[in-house]
Amino acid sequence: MNIVSTVIKSRHSVRNFKPDPVNDLVIKDAIECAGHAPTAMNLQPWLFGIIKNKDMLSKIAELTVHSKFIAKSPLCFAIFGEKKETYYLEDCCAATENLILALQAHGITSCWVAGEKKQYAEAMRKLLGVPENYTLVSLVAAGYPAEISIVKKKEMKNLVFFEEFKEN
Ligand SMILES: Cc1cc2nc3c(=O)[nH]c(=O)nc-3n(C[C@H](O)[C@H](O)[C@H](O)COP(=O)(O)O)c2cc1C
Repeated sequence: MNIVSTVIKSRHSVRNFKPDPVNDLVIKDAIECAGHAPTAMNLQPWLFGIIKNKDMLSKIAELTVHSKFIAKSPLCFAIFGEKKETYYLEDCCAATENLILALQAHGITSCWVAGEKKQYAEAMRKLLGVPENYTLVSLVAAGYPAEISIVKKKEMKNLVFFEEFKEN
């Protein structure tokens, strides 16, 4: 396996982190990798928030439904997309995955937290002072893992088709 495959396959969502801070150079590299994601017409329609402040992390966690663990995370990213661009959702999801994989390559684990389809998206925008023309696409809680649980992935043989799909 090459290094990219190894990083991709070693990633698991982590929701319980050690309190240790994440180095700013790691954060910078991860954000740069997010910004290297492909985007429709190269519009790069995003804003990346980096949140470390404990009070703000608690406020973010309070707004979410299934992600109260953000309050105890040392770091959270908030990815916002420019609503007027047709493909902002795809673009920002590509950036989110790049961010997560770049963190993983530095030994920093994370969990993607839903944004765009959640009722709290608008409240999150206001909380973080982001301009109205942007909407929350995703949150990513991150840090050194305190606990890792590994979920089962579907078997490729049941998911792949060659040339033309046929029922078995
Ligand atoms: C779009 C999206 C939204 C998600 N939202 C949440 C969330 O709100 N809370 C949470 O704990 N995990 C969330 N997750 C993480 C998934 O639960 C996780 O990726 C899935 O269980 C597979 O586990 P793995 O990441 O370890 O492969 C989200 C993942 C994606 C891609």
